[in-house]
Amino acid sequence: MLGAGIIDSITNARPAVSGGFRDTLVASQKVNWRIEDIIGGDKRLDFTKPFMPEALARVQELSFPSADEKRILNQIRGNAYLGIFGLVEEFILPFVLDHVRPTLDQDDFRVRAFLQFAGEEAKHIQLFKVFSDEFCEGFGSECRIIGPPAEVASAVLAHQPLAVALAILHIEWMSQRHYIESIKGDIEIDLQFKSLLKNHWLEEAQHAKLDTRMVESLSEGLSDEAITAAIDGFLAIGGFLDEGLKQQTVFDMEALERATGRTLTVEEREAFVATQLQANRWTYIGSGMIHPKFKQTLDRLGSDASKRIAEVAPAFE
Ligand SMILES: [Fe+2]
Ligand SMILES: [Fe+2]
Repeated sequence: MLGAGIIDSITNARPAVSGGFRDTLVASQKVNWRIEDIIGGDKRLDFTKPFMPEALARVQELSFPSADEKRILNQIRGNAYLGIFGLVEEFILPFVLDHVRPTLDQDDFRVRAFLQFAGEEAKHIQLFKVFSDEFCEGFGSECRIIGPPAEVASAVLAHQPLAVALAILHIEWMSQRHYIESIKGDIEIDLQFKSLLKNHWLEEAQHAKLDTRMVESLSEGLSDEAITAAIDGFLAIGGFLDEGLKQQTVFDMEALERATGRTLTVEEREAFVATQLQANRWTYIGSGMIHPKFKQTLDRLGSDASKRIAEVAPAFE
């Protein structure tokens, strides 16, 4: 009797509702690629080419490096780009898992869509590690990346969930913008690096939709005061990332000196930091902050969320 009762309740307990999550799941399953298919074997980086589009790298704005040195700096920036993506994805992964964990019994498609999202970020983290190994081997000298990932993750995840979800949403829209506006049409950059960015972008497209849903569900029913506090948290995470970018800019300058054997003068160092820090700020903060889709979500949050972000955004352009 007891056994029959349990079987009854299992059979009837979980409706496979969707609410749009089915479409997201199907779309991501269609794209799903394997790491082995996009890196390794005969798919090699070409170190005679730049890796990053100039709109993000902004190396041409510097007057002192030679053409070769600008290409080397561009490659250093490319390596840092995937390194920093790996870093942020290390806090996105546990956050997404924690978000879906308490509601595993509510919507099968939603659960699967979020687990697919988490699985893809775990795969991207691994992809960027494989890339880093190949880059180090081919580049020939050390290029440091900010971290360590566990400490960055615990600092970011200490903020309230809505603040973290907004930071993640901003990162996803930022990666969409980079590919569509700067990478897709660039015919100068290395094709293998471009292929990695394209494949990453393809999977990220569904993440942006799921992040929007995370923000919507975390903000449901919150007071204006609570929304304001979440924006405070989002700005604090932005400030934390900005500190990281200052450090990364110095790491990139040291990497350029190591790779070229050149010691920059005081004036050259100042010019380097001014130009490259702003390039990093636009790449990782500004381009997401002023994305129209991100603004749409801020508008829906109400309070003065949109206005406050619009006020700080020019500093990151
Ligand atoms: Fe990713
Ligand atoms: Fe993502």
